[in-house]
Amino acid sequence: MTCLRNLFAALRARAILLGDGFAALFKLVRLIFRALIGGKGPLRDRVLPVLTLPSSQLLAFAVLRAFLPNFVISKRLVTSYDNNGTAVVTRAADVIEVLDREADFAVVYEPKMRAITGGANFFLGMQNTAQYQHDTSLMRLAMRRDDVESVVTPLARRKAEEFASAHQTRIDLPQDLTLRVPAAIVSDYFGTPGPDEQDIIEWATILFWYLFVDLKGEATLEAKALVAAKNLRESIDASVAARKASGEQKDDVLGRALALQAGAPEFDDIAIRDNLIGLVIGAIPTISRASVQAVDQLLDRPEALAGAQAAARAGDENLLGAYVFEALRFNPINPVIYRRANRDATIAASTLRARKIPKGTLVFAANLSAMFDPLHIEAPNEFRVDRPWGDYILWGYGLHTCFGAYINRAVIPAILQPVLARPNLRRAPGSAGQIDGGGTPFPQHFVLESD
Ligand code: HEM
Repeated sequence: MTCLRNLFAALRARAILLGDGFAALFKLVRLIFRALIGGKGPLRDRVLPVLTLPSSQLLAFAVLRAFLPNFVISKRLVTSYDNNGTAVVTRAADVIEVLDREADFAVVYEPKMRAITGGANFFLGMQNTAQYQHDTSLMRLAMRRDDVESVVTPLARRKAEEFASAHQTRIDLPQDLTLRVPAAIVSDYFGTPGPDEQDIIEWATILFWYLFVDLKGEATLEAKALVAAKNLRESIDASVAARKASGEQKDDVLGRALALQAGAPEFDDIAIRDNLIGLVIGAIPTISRASVQAVDQLLDRPEALAGAQAAARAGDENLLGAYVFEALRFNPINPVIYRRANRDATIAASTLRARKIPKGTLVFAANLSAMFDPLHIEAPNEFRVDRPWGDYILWGYGLHTCFGAYINRAVIPAILQPVLARPNLRRAPGSAGQIDGGGTPFPQHFVLESD
C-alpha cells in the first residue's frame, strides 16, 4: 500500500513539474509578446526588463526544470572570471549536488579577493584547504554562535527601534533602517566602525557588487572597487592599531581576534584585517537587500502581509521570520550561486537528465529554481509559513554556506519588526513605493507609509 502511495506521489510531483513548465512557457511567451508590441525603442530594451523581473525568472526556471533541467553551452556568459563555457543547473537535487561537490565545482572569487585585500585570499575564495579550515576556525572563535542570541539580535532590535522611531509614518526603508542596522552591527559588534556609517555602507556595497554581481568585469566598477578596497583596508587597519594602542580589552569580534594572536601568531594584524574585510562586505548590503526584498514581496500579498504584521505586533519573531523568509524565497538576493568545473564532471549521473560539464565551465547553480522544484518542495508555488527550514537555500549551501547564516535568520526579523508592526502599512504612492537601486544592484530607496 505504502509503495503504491509513493508511486502515486512520485507521478503526481512529475505531473506538476510538467504542468508548471507548460503553464510557465505560455506565460513567458505572452509576456514577451506584450513587451514586443507594447513598448517603444530597441527590442532588447523592451524585452530585457520584463525578463529580469523576479516573477519572470521564476517562469523561466519552471520551463527549464521541466524541459531542459541541466544545460551546457560553450559560450562564455560571464567575463569577469575565467571560464570557457556556461552551464545552468535548475533541479534541487542537482543544485545541491553542484554545491556539495566542492572538489569538482570550485569557487571562482580568488583573484578579486586578492585584489581587494591587496594580497591574500579570503576564505570564500578558497577550496577546502588547510588554510580555509584555519581561517574559518579562528573566525568562528572570534564570532561566536552564541553571540547571535546574547549580543547581535538585542543590538539589532535596539538599533531598529531607534532608527525606525525617527520616521513614524513614512520611512525610506534602506536609507533609514535596513542599511543602518547592519552598519551598526559592523561598528559595535565587529569593532570596525570606519570613519562613518555612510562610508562603510558605500564601500561594502561597491565591493559586494564587484565580487558577486558584476559578471561582465566592468572596468569603471573595478576602478571604484579598488578605491573602496583601499579605503576599507586603511579603515580596518586604523581600528586594529587604535585598539592595540589603547590597550582596551573589548569583548567584540576584533578584540577576540587580537586575543587569539597569543596562540596563533600567524594570525597577524593583516590576516585579521583581511578576514574582517570579507565579513564587512558580506554583512551590510546583503542584510539590507534581503530585508527590503522580503517586505516588497509581502506587500504584494495582502494575506501574507496581514500574517506578518500580526506576528510583528505580537512580538513573535519566529513566526515573523517564517513570513519574511518565505517571502524572500520568491525573490532571494542571489537567484544563482556560481562555481567553475575543476575537471570534466557529470552531474545527475544515472538519470535521464545526466550531463557532462567540461572542465572550465562556469556553472550557475540556480538556488531560486531549487526552492521551487516540486520534486523537492511541497506545493512550491504556495506562500506557506510551515516549511521545514531545509527547504530554503537563501544563503548558499555546503562548504561555503554563509558565515552569517545564524545572524541573518535572527536579525532580519528583528530589523523589520518595528516597521511591520505599523498600522495600515503600505507602499508610498508612485515610484517612491517601488524598490529603487539608484543605478546599483542594491535597494537605495523604498518608501513605505503607515497611519
Ligand atoms: C541576508 C543576508 C546574507 C545573504 C543573503 C548572504 C548570502 C551568502 C551566500 C549566497 C553565500 C555563499 C556564496 C557562495 O557559496 O559562493 C555566503 C557566504 C558567506 N557570507 Fe553571507 N550572506 C548574508 C549575510 C552575511 C553576513 C551577515 C555575514 C557576516 C557576518 C556574511 C558573511 C559571509 C561569508 C564570510 C561567506 C563565506 C563563507 C565560506 O566561504 O565558508 N554573510 N553568503
